[in-house]
Amino acid sequence: MNILVTGVAGFIGSHAAERLQNLGHSVIGVDNFSDYYDVKLKKLNAKAVEDRGVKVITLDLRTSNLSQELPNNINYIFHFSAQPGISVSSTFEDYFSNNILATKNLIDFALSCQDLKLFVNIATSSIYGLEATYPEDFPPKPASYYGVTKLAAEQLVLQKSREKKMISCSLRLYSVIGPRERPEKMYTKLIDLGLKGKTFPLFEGSDKHLRSFTYVGDIVDGIVSVLGKEAIVNGEIINLGTEVEHTTQEGIEAVEEVLGITIKINVIPKRIGDQLRTKANIDKARLLLNYNPQTTLLESVRHQVKWYKENFL
Ligand SMILES: NC(=O)c1ccc[n+]([C@@H]2O[C@H](COP(=O)([O-])OP(=O)(O)OC[C@H]3O[C@@H](n4cnc5c(N)ncnc54)[C@H](O)[C@@H]3O)[C@@H](O)[C@H]2O)c1
Repeated sequence: MNILVTGVAGFIGSHAAERLQNLGHSVIGVDNFSDYYDVKLKKLNAKAVEDRGVKVITLDLRTSNLSQELPNNINYIFHFSAQPGISVSSTFEDYFSNNILATKNLIDFALSCQDLKLFVNIATSSIYGLEATYPEDFPPKPASYYGVTKLAAEQLVLQKSREKKMISCSLRLYSVIGPRERPEKMYTKLIDLGLKGKTFPLFEGSDKHLRSFTYVGDIVDGIVSVLGKEAIVNGEIINLGTEVEHTTQEGIEAVEEVLGITIKINVIPKRIGDQLRTKANIDKARLLLNYNPQTTLLESVRHQVKWYKENFL
């Protein structure tokens, strides 16, 4: 199959592209290499996927006429690109343009692909709001520009299923961790600062936050399992993540255990919009996709530490 992966130089998109290529598909990846975090890391990810045979194209989904830039013989689209996370350095315009406008452009391109079987939108548990413990039909209450714009993007995609113009689904991911995790996120930051003997800035009260910390390999298992299931997943929202919850404090302790050190912590003011609890309800994913994530927190951290040491020490 001919597969388009957006956000291919990012954390999760790069893993998904590699997996799809390894499964024998012909994968084209696009990315605008935004400077939201160190572009060198994105180049490293892009190089790794290119080495596996993925064709990587530099393209900004906000501005480009995609039909002129991309082949239209695409069978599947996996849409990862986004302005991710909650960050003071990201403006409303960043979220609006990268999450909503870019998705609209991609949908317009998808509608021009005659052989498209499925458009897979990658969404987030942030759509649920401060507590994300619910099944997919629970009313969304996003508490950040990120969550609001990802909800809008999801609905733009699913609208096309409702109009019967495109077969699509949206997968809501929960706290993904593992090799290539974004540098501003908790585990990469803990490993980096811990190994350098520096202090980790902990948002006040966040040590008690609960998270479905899900290994990226388990997330990719769920994502690629939609291939061939278009009749089952069309128009559906599906949560993907582990049902096992850990506090942030337990996450810190897992990194300390793997590194064999104690990490110095500095408490900084709370982050507005930060989720208090995420626990993936995956009853629907089990039913429709036979989804069954198994990697433990400690195993995930071990993989991530290995990746960090191989690439940055
Ligand atoms: N990381 C998580 O824990 C997590 C959890 C839930 C959902 N998600 C979702 O998964 C997806 C991937 O997240 P990630 O953590 O890999 O983020 P990431 O920032 O590492 O990857 C996103 C990639 O998209 C690219 N991009 C951004 N705007 C673009 C544009 N306009 N045109 C082309 N490329 C563009 C970026 O350069 C980046 O390489 C996002 O949609 C995010 O909302 C992530």
